Parts: sequence; C-alpha cells; structure tokens
Amino acid sequence: MRRTSLIGEVMIELSEIDSTNNYAMSLINEGMAEHGMTIKADYQTQGKGQQGNTWLSEDSKNLLCSFILDTQSFEIHRQFILNMSACLAIANYLQESIGLPNISIKWPNDIYAGNKKMAGILIENTLRGSCWSHAIVGIGLNINQSQFPTNNLATSMSVETGQHFKVKQVLTQLLPYVNHYYKIFVSEPERILEEYNNFLYKAGEPMLFKKHHELVTGKILGVDETGAIEIEIDGKVKHFKHKEIDMVLN
Ligand code: BTN
Repeated sequence: MRRTSLIGEVMIELSEIDSTNNYAMSLINEGMAEHGMTIKADYQTQGKGQQGNTWLSEDSKNLLCSFILDTQSFEIHRQFILNMSACLAIANYLQESIGLPNISIKWPNDIYAGNKKMAGILIENTLRGSCWSHAIVGIGLNINQSQFPTNNLATSMSVETGQHFKVKQVLTQLLPYVNHYYKIFVSEPERILEEYNNFLYKAGEPMLFKKHHELVTGKILGVDETGAIEIEIDGKVKHFKHKEIDMVLN
C-alpha cells in the first residue's frame, strides 16, 4: 500500500515565479499534484495576499512557499480548522524553535510578533463537484527582510532576533510543525480550536473596532468553531464573520 507522503518530502524550488500558489494550482489542474508537494520560490512577481492584496517580498530574503494537500476525504466545513492548523504550525515554530516570546495569531490568519505582522497565510481550495479536493496552503514568512513598505506594521525573524537565517533551513525546521499540525487536523481536529484561542492576538483587552464605518469599543473573547470571532460589546457577546468587523490598530 502506498504510504501518504509527508508534507515537504517532494519539493519544487524555483528562483522566480508569479506566485507559488498559482504554480500549485497549475499542478492540480494538470493532474500532476500529489499530497504534500511543496513549492518554494526565492522571488514572486505577483505574490498574492489576503483579500486580493499583493504580497511583496524582497528577493531571497523570506520564505515564500505553498503546500498542496489532498483534502478529498474531509468535509468542506473543516476549512477553518485547516486554516487554524496552519497558523498553529507557524506560531509554535516561531515560539519554540526560534524562541520568540511574543508570538500571537491575529484572527483569522496573521502571525504577529508583538504588534507587527511576521507571517501571512493564503489558503486556496479546489472543489471537484461539491467535494473539497485540494487545499493550497501558501505561506509568506518574513525572515531576513528589515524594511517594509507598510508603515512599520511588519517585522521579520531577523529584526526580532538580530540574527540572520538561511531561508531553506527555516523551511526544513518548519516542516515538522506543519506535519504535526496536519496530523492533528486529520485525527484530532477538536484539539485545534482551543490551542488557536490560546494564541489569539489582543484577547481580553478592551480595544477599538470598526464595524460598518462605525467605531465601537469591545473585547475579544475568542473564536468559535465556525471561525467567527466573539467580541463583547456593551456587555453583550456578538459573533462576527471575516470582514464583518476590523480591529483598529495604532
Ligand atoms: C496575507 O495577505 O497575509 C497572506 C499572504 C500569503 C503570501 C504567500 S507567499 C507564498 C504564497 N504564494 C502567494 O502568492 N501567496 C502566498
């Protein structure tokens, strides 16, 4: 019987590509994709971020990679659990392996060090009929870049530690975390939500939110099993889906 390959066992390394997620999507569309295939690039000419944004990254300084997962045996509603699992893999790697003390997950899927973003995740899914066929988990992790266009809202492993890292080595060290959390996603998905909530950025702190152009004060309580964020506003617990509310960060 064929053993399911580990994520990262098959790796395609590219010096330049439009987007590693697009490359992964082409492999899937051409029937060439296998579970666990990993695409890594030094540079992306059209790196994609969340919500149609561009993901900019200086050449060879950061980790730009996509993992192809065969998801056909899972219900489509597990998508948010996969999203949380990917966040936990990166957050735990940065905390345990790099020793960063201030790592958190900003809902839904940004990895923060202190009040700055260190990594972003873009998951693209493919369907066959109504079944979830593949997930492409795209990760942009800032490693050696020290200047960012986004008004100092971003940071990197190097900025936080004062050290230089080898990008390929970071990926090699991250892969056991990715495989560990993928295994939990498969066999113990109920464990993921609690772990995710333990990393939640700004949980329990009163702060400002923007809700339909209106500013409100509230306190994040946690994320529920549907992936909605629970915020206490005026003594009442309200649930918001992605894009229904924004944190106002200064
Ligand atoms: C975000 O906006 O926070 C998500 C950023 C995801 C960027 C990564 S880089 C590797 C992969 N390929 C892409 O085009 N995007 C993802």
